Amino acid sequence: MAAIGRHRSKLAAIFWTVVIHVRGRSFLSLLCLYVFFVVLWLVILPFGLENFIFSGYNFQAKSVKTRYEYCPKEWLMNYYPLLGAVETTCKPRQHVAYLKNHKCGSTTIVQIFNRYRRFYDLRVAEPKYGYHFWGPVDASKIPRPPKIKMEFINTVPLNGTEDKFDMILHHMVYDEEVLKRVMHADTFYTTILREPFSQFKSVFNAFHFDKKYNIFNADPMREFLRNPQKYYRGGTKPASAFVRNSMLFHFGFPDEDDTLRNNITFIKQFIAYIDKKFDFIMISEFMDESLILLRRLLCWDMDDILFASRNVLNYTYKHVDDPELRRLHMQWSLGDYFLYSHFRQKFEKLMKAQGPDFQEELEAFKICLKNFQNDYPYQ
Ligand SMILES: *[C@@H]1O[C@H](CO)[C@@H](O)[C@H](O)[C@H]1NC(C)=O
Ligand SMILES: *[C@@H]1O[C@H](CO)[C@@H](O)[C@H](O)[C@H]1NC(C)=O
Ligand SMILES: *[C@@H]1O[C@H](CO)[C@@H](O)[C@H](O)[C@H]1NC(C)=O
Repeated sequence: MAAIGRHRSKLAAIFWTVVIHVRGRSFLSLLCLYVFFVVLWLVILPFGLENFIFSGYNFQAKSVKTRYEYCPKEWLMNYYPLLGAVETTCKPRQHVAYLKNHKCGSTTIVQIFNRYRRFYDLRVAEPKYGYHFWGPVDASKIPRPPKIKMEFINTVPLNGTEDKFDMILHHMVYDEEVLKRVMHADTFYTTILREPFSQFKSVFNAFHFDKKYNIFNADPMREFLRNPQKYYRGGTKPASAFVRNSMLFHFGFPDEDDTLRNNITFIKQFIAYIDKKFDFIMISEFMDESLILLRRLLCWDMDDILFASRNVLNYTYKHVDDPELRRLHMQWSLGDYFLYSHFRQKFEKLMKAQGPDFQEELEAFKICLKNFQNDYPYQ
């Protein structure tokens, strides 16, 4: 934690000033002074008093209550200098491009990024049209929103190469070149994925595909998956992009190309490309773990990843886990299964590579989160 590093150097400066002034005194009195400062330092930290004492230094005064108010003291002790393991070397990364996938828990993640960028007064890319980078269209009325273009971004003040955005968070279809132009070179690219069948069920519900496709049947999802082309009509219907390979779609996968869509070699190449371009991909089934890893990779504080409500819905299909439907869906959205499987394996590997303190941090996080959500049930 960089904050503690700054804190430490400030105290060291005070200490040496005092030492110079008391030169000539005995070693014992110096030792007493040193002990006094150490004790003072350890006493004030857990109570957040540093916010008053060092208020002139903007020592992490937070918009939501005091720093770490929500977290258990035992966990914090591990992060105090002299008391246990400390991360002091990493520097928070504040340049983030987040690909907002539909129905994967994106609302939660965007909430976190938005709070962070407001607090640090970061510059976020704003869409020129609506709340997305699809351009001047209503995504629910056209088959397939285009990739992000410069003219979909409110780039008015973007003149020189040095003038870039710190964060980009709204819905978009990824385009490497466009993002490179508006984002800093050290931008952290991230997104979240969800188990494809659950994601499909959620999308089918949220986009009302039964009504869109006029499926007047007691079990519209089964009817659709049994005869997808009858309703999909080669992707000519509105919002087609969201009903097949809808996670890959956000990365700019050419799903409309029938020869490539089910070409496994091509799918794997495409996934390898994503893997190169994205620094970290979260997994919706491991939301808390994802956020801890995100925190660690970005070198953010625990405060920064707390979130209030999740956009969780309950709907008829949610609890349907029918092997036939899953198999049909896998045939229909093959690419999304490859995508998810690849990044889930990668995620689990990263999780395993964390030290034993990962589990400790996770437990602490759950407690912080509960305390936070008691105070902020909605946001
Ligand atoms: C960008 O260019 C426009 C037009 O040339 C100018 O009015 C504006 O002040 C420039 N903005 C910045 C931030 O340089
Ligand atoms: C499948 O994709 C690979 C890699 O893009 C390509 O070389 C190959 O020709 C494709 N196969 C077919 C049948 O289109
Ligand atoms: C969600 O819906 C299912 C089926 O309609 C129901 O069995 C379940 O109790 C609901 N869960 C909650 C938390 O409301």
